[in-house]
Amino acid sequence: MNISQLKSFKRSGEKIACLTAYDASFAQTFDRCGVDVILVGDSLGNVIHGSGNTVSVSMDDMCYHTKIVAKGCEQALIISDLPYQSYEDPKQALANSNLLIDAGADMVKFEGGREHESIFKKLHESGIPLCAHLGLLPQSVSDPGGFKVQGKDEDSAKRIIEDAILVESWGADVVVLECIPANLASIVSNNLSIPTIGIGAGVDCDGQVLVSYDMLGINPNKKPKFVKNFLESSTGIGAAVESYVQSVKNKSFPSKDHTY
Ligand code: KIV
Repeated sequence: MNISQLKSFKRSGEKIACLTAYDASFAQTFDRCGVDVILVGDSLGNVIHGSGNTVSVSMDDMCYHTKIVAKGCEQALIISDLPYQSYEDPKQALANSNLLIDAGADMVKFEGGREHESIFKKLHESGIPLCAHLGLLPQSVSDPGGFKVQGKDEDSAKRIIEDAILVESWGADVVVLECIPANLASIVSNNLSIPTIGIGAGVDCDGQVLVSYDMLGINPNKKPKFVKNFLESSTGIGAAVESYVQSVKNKSFPSKDHTY
């Protein structure tokens, strides 16, 4: 999988199936079960470290997990997160992006839009493939009550649409949209020529991502509305992942029940 294939998926209407992975065995399973994109997410702070947040995740953590995911992955495109405070200015963002690429990432993701203009431009100029992350930004939420659907009022919806258009113009190759109303995600997706990958953003995104531990029912915490446990109705992990991929591709996931 490469960036031009992802973009051709958008043009042809084929949905992109993405899951998070943090180690070689899960990455290999997902890869073999047809997952198009593997995200080495800083959600590892929650599901691997048990920290209850993503802000405690370091560059060393991200490089380590990217390296071991890359070992298990043959087909899927690997996106790795730049963790909290690792992209404070363009120079630092570039140095840390290069570390993730050297560890095996094909693309780097970071949270935010217009406030990072100089970072988008610097990374794009330097040839780093880029994934933006808009909507709910977990690195900016300091208390668990702050995990709320974004873009519900006119101003914040307008800001998300504008940010998406800006980040595409600054070189983003993909945009993750987290926890926004489905109709807003649909407008964003229709206004971009690069793919959107949604989590809690409705079926009209060009692809879907879930935290793998959530879709396997491993996470014991309260399940957000957008999560579906695919293991519940499957015979094993491989079958659950295949069912997830198929449900994304045939647009039966996310259903209305998983949508804001
Ligand atoms: O870290 C992560 O898992 C993510 C997804 C929630 C998109 O960024």
